Amino acid sequence: MKKVLFICHGNICRSPMAEYVMKDMVKKAGKGDEFFVASAAMHTDELGNPVYPPVRKLLNAAGIDCNGHAARLIRDSDYADFDLIIGMDEANIRDLYRKFHGDPEGKIHKLLEYCGLGKDVADPWYTRDFSKTWDEINAGCAVLLGDLTGK
Ligand code: 4NP
Repeated sequence: MKKVLFICHGNICRSPMAEYVMKDMVKKAGKGDEFFVASAAMHTDELGNPVYPPVRKLLNAAGIDCNGHAARLIRDSDYADFDLIIGMDEANIRDLYRKFHGDPEGKIHKLLEYCGLGKDVADPWYTRDFSKTWDEINAGCAVLLGDLTGK
């Protein structure tokens, strides 16, 4: 079982987008029983809230359901519980290193690293460009899934 946790600031835009996109890709690849995918917030601003409506709209347009999502905060136990902890931007990575006192097992990565890019996933909370974020997250998740399934 490969366990992947996506992280962003609030867990209402980017990391749930990545969680539900990745779950959909995994399911379509017939690998549903080989993966556990989740997402969490680095900060408390949006705890308990559902997926932000513009993100839900993009997910639903792609036939992906995100009902029942409630933003949850990262936990101390997440470092042991997951194989990969994937942040969206440099601030997430900095916060993750601080929370887990470094990254002794090399689990922390930034999503677009998988596309060979050093850049952040743009935060649509500020850019309001949800479709750019959608494209970046879909590209990152596709390469990540390929990496994890040896393709
Ligand atoms: P996310 O977007 O980290 O992609 O879920 C944000 C959501 C809320 C805030 C910032 C970013 N906020 O400051 O409340």
